[in-house]
Amino acid sequence: MSTLPVFERARIADGGPAPLYLKLKRLVIDAIAQGTLADRDAIPGERDLARMLGISRVTVRKAFADLVADGVLVQRRGSGTFVAPKTGRIQLPLSRLTSFTEDMRLRGIETFSDWLDRSVALPTPEESLVLALSPGDKVIRLHRLRRADGKPLAIERSSIPHRFLPDPMAVETSLYAALTERGLKPVRALQRLHAVALSKGDADLLGLPEGSPALFTERVAYLTDGRVIEFTRSHYRGDSYDFVAELHLAAGS
Ligand code: GLP
Repeated sequence: MSTLPVFERARIADGGPAPLYLKLKRLVIDAIAQGTLADRDAIPGERDLARMLGISRVTVRKAFADLVADGVLVQRRGSGTFVAPKTGRIQLPLSRLTSFTEDMRLRGIETFSDWLDRSVALPTPEESLVLALSPGDKVIRLHRLRRADGKPLAIERSSIPHRFLPDPMAVETSLYAALTERGLKPVRALQRLHAVALSKGDADLLGLPEGSPALFTERVAYLTDGRVIEFTRSHYRGDSYDFVAELHLAAGS
């Protein structure tokens, strides 16, 4: 398929005042979501694309670097830049605070959740401690089986202080979207990750044999003022995810 129609100059120049590299990123992401760019499609080279769009190579390079870091594009030395195959493992950068919905939207994948629990509850001692709750405070529990293009990918069990989000039904597709709408966007998080074998119950939900490998993450997310907004434990299918971290030399090395 020719990819050229996707990269018409008019589409980059259109729209609001967002930086050009963000517009180029959005163009690629939307084209993947709409199917105009398919898995493994070649993206024109930096120089050609810059000329075609009437923007600088630096802008193209910045957009590409972000899209590669997000796992949307892959770059192969000597052969160019391609749309990352959706059917492969999902590459999740470890250093970005994104939501499941955003991660999948970036890849043009539609998400859906089966609700396992969406309730107001008294906190467990662990929830009280992690969320820094006062005696008598409640939590809302949002437990979801998260699907991408229909396939169960992860089980997420989130606890949010009730005072921040009184009605669990307010969360529809995205928890982060519901929080952001209320001015409660998480801006920082600590996340731990380790390997686990799935219990029978979780394996059944993910459609895998008991004991299958999974990546377990625990995220504690904070608001700008340092208050804890979220405590989420997630089990990601071990056969579908790569968590990717960029490493830098330590200062002084
Ligand atoms: C990721 C994180 C969770 C977070 C979730 C929000 O998957 N591991 O900690 O709660 O995203 O996703 P969404 O906004 O799609 O509900």
